[in-house]
Amino acid sequence: MHKIDIDLVEMTMDVMKYTIDRVSATKRKIGKPKKAEELKALVGETITNEGIGGEYAFKLWRKYLSKANVPVDHPRHLAFVPASPTRAAIMFDLITSASSIHGAYWMEGAGGIFCENEAMKWIVSLTGLPEGAFGVFTSGGTAANLSGIVTAREHWREQDEFKGEKGLIITSVGAHSSIKAMAKVADVDILLVDTEDVMSGAELQKTVNGLTPHQRKRLFAVVGTGGTTNAGIIDDLGGIANVCEKENLWFHVDAAYGGGALAADSVRHLFNGIERADSITIDPHKWMFSPYDCGAILYKKPELAKKAHSQQGSYLDIFKDEGAHGFNPTDYQIQLTRRVRGLPLWFSLATHGIDKYKEAVERGLELAQIAGRLIGENPNVELVREPSLSCVLYRRIGWKPEDYTHWTYENHKNGFALVTPTKWKTGDAFETVSRFCFINPDTTEDDIKTILESMA
Ligand SMILES: Cc1ncc(COP(=O)(O)O)c(C=O)c1O
Repeated sequence: MHKIDIDLVEMTMDVMKYTIDRVSATKRKIGKPKKAEELKALVGETITNEGIGGEYAFKLWRKYLSKANVPVDHPRHLAFVPASPTRAAIMFDLITSASSIHGAYWMEGAGGIFCENEAMKWIVSLTGLPEGAFGVFTSGGTAANLSGIVTAREHWREQDEFKGEKGLIITSVGAHSSIKAMAKVADVDILLVDTEDVMSGAELQKTVNGLTPHQRKRLFAVVGTGGTTNAGIIDDLGGIANVCEKENLWFHVDAAYGGGALAADSVRHLFNGIERADSITIDPHKWMFSPYDCGAILYKKPELAKKAHSQQGSYLDIFKDEGAHGFNPTDYQIQLTRRVRGLPLWFSLATHGIDKYKEAVERGLELAQIAGRLIGENPNVELVREPSLSCVLYRRIGWKPEDYTHWTYENHKNGFALVTPTKWKTGDAFETVSRFCFINPDTTEDDIKTILESMA
């Protein structure tokens, strides 16, 4: 299994050929899922005592299994938050795997962690966080949000008067589901400001003022969003920072999706106030063109994260010795063993340079504006709200919720596009509408036009 022979050489060639074909293909279909029973019927038993052989297993992958996935980097995949890793980043993901680097401690992963840190310095610089701020790459936004919330809670609980209290955080209805989920994991209560639109400092202050004395005692953090997933809305980060400073609360910004737009000069000002955050989530696997999975958590004072997350164990002591001095990513987030998942981002950034990243993010913003114009020109559809960052919410005039669902499935089935419906609250009612989220700079104006025309 671990020996080098002709089978290994052949398998390596096959994998490289597949990879080259995959990254250089210009015309690709959107795959579609099949039921597990259908896939089983197609591929049969693959895990056997003797093994089915690499050649046959790979054939099954190419012929059936790979086609049951929807590649997130398809230019007409405009649902959820798509992705669009650069070819350089994808190729270096292979190198990351081939290099077998343990990315927890400098002692083992110095070269890889050095590269990650170079990329991280750039991300930190985009935020304007003060000197001393730093971050680490995580498996995604969910893990980053959890790492941030746990750091905040541990810091709060260090004070005697809060020991034994269950913490409370405030965010808005527009916050991503992972904030609510991670509050559950960290066993803290969560209070939602009732808006999916911009959460302002004034609304936050009103909510804080309305707390009972015991709730106020338990409140330790506020989570603002730097680009809501549903509509690309950026909270009033400066206003929220004012309240957090006045009330002595930890300020976390979830910019998992929107954080890439910090690189875009045209919208950077919308994030003003983010530089006053205590922690920030940004996902390079969303709008920084990294392959899955790559999130990041940044801290104003990384030493607080280290206090919260650093793991102790007799077999780990050697990593903390003089001889092993260096940056240990494991100390700043929830995971011990970790892939150096920032490495593909480093290679791509080093290859293409910051300017190309700026251009690619600006293209996503531009595509949202183009979509807004095309929606204005098409009599069948209308904007629900002005495009925000790279999200566009629009309605097909006269459609009921089931029409959107049917249209989504038809497009998906035909391998044409993946555009999914969402809900938007207008007045007291939730309306089903259609949503675009642009990340991929390869999406064309014609793609958008054709998708809108398919709603005729
Ligand atoms: C704003 C926001 N926060 C957090 C997440 C969760 O990130 P992940 O899926 O990488 O865990 C997402 C995912 O879309 C998001 O948009």
